[in-house]
Amino acid sequence: MDLFEAIEKRRSVRAFQSKPIAREDLEKIIDAGRCAPTGRNEQPWEFVVVTDMYARQRIAELTTFGKYIADAAACVAVFCRGNTPYYVEDGAAATENILLAATALGIGGCWVAGDKKPYAVDIGESLGAPETHRLVSLVALGYEGEETPRKPKRPVNEVLHWENW
Ligand SMILES: Cc1cc2nc3c(=O)[nH]c(=O)nc-3n(C[C@H](O)[C@H](O)[C@H](O)COP(=O)(O)O)c2cc1C
Repeated sequence: MDLFEAIEKRRSVRAFQSKPIAREDLEKIIDAGRCAPTGRNEQPWEFVVVTDMYARQRIAELTTFGKYIADAAACVAVFCRGNTPYYVEDGAAATENILLAATALGIGGCWVAGDKKPYAVDIGESLGAPETHRLVSLVALGYEGEETPRKPKRPVNEVLHWENW
């Protein structure tokens, strides 16, 4: 799939089929994540791919708006080392790459908040993450269970400013 098509097709998918995702595809998705830009090229990230049903249920229960992680085929927990000033931006860039790569492979996904959420520490502990690393996001992944309409987006002529605001 062409990049612009993937950008246009991506949407937050929160209802999934029970079909698993091939390990090879999960590796491709994480490979896309680790290619994202990072401040000072620190690449402070670690990605924990959780497919186990019980572990997904545990994560889902801890979140506020991510209960559907329990029904996803996989959940990627994106961690970044917290002692770098751009850890949130770095993890966010990787998260978007993950979502776009999944879309290109015909896999749906949704970004679930990590950083700034009170449950971030508990999820890190439940996955055995060291205290040095912070949970930036969770990404639920799976084959779409029902068609997800595209959310209205502000048009380009409203958000684009040439030369000056
Ligand atoms: C930083 C961030 C945090 C988000 N947190 C959640 C979340 O906790 N639960 C959820 O269901 N969606 C979450 N989302 C997804 C947004 O709700 C979604 O991207 C937005 O509604 C636009 O829809 P779209 O992704 O289909 O374009 C989050 C997105 C971002 C970028």
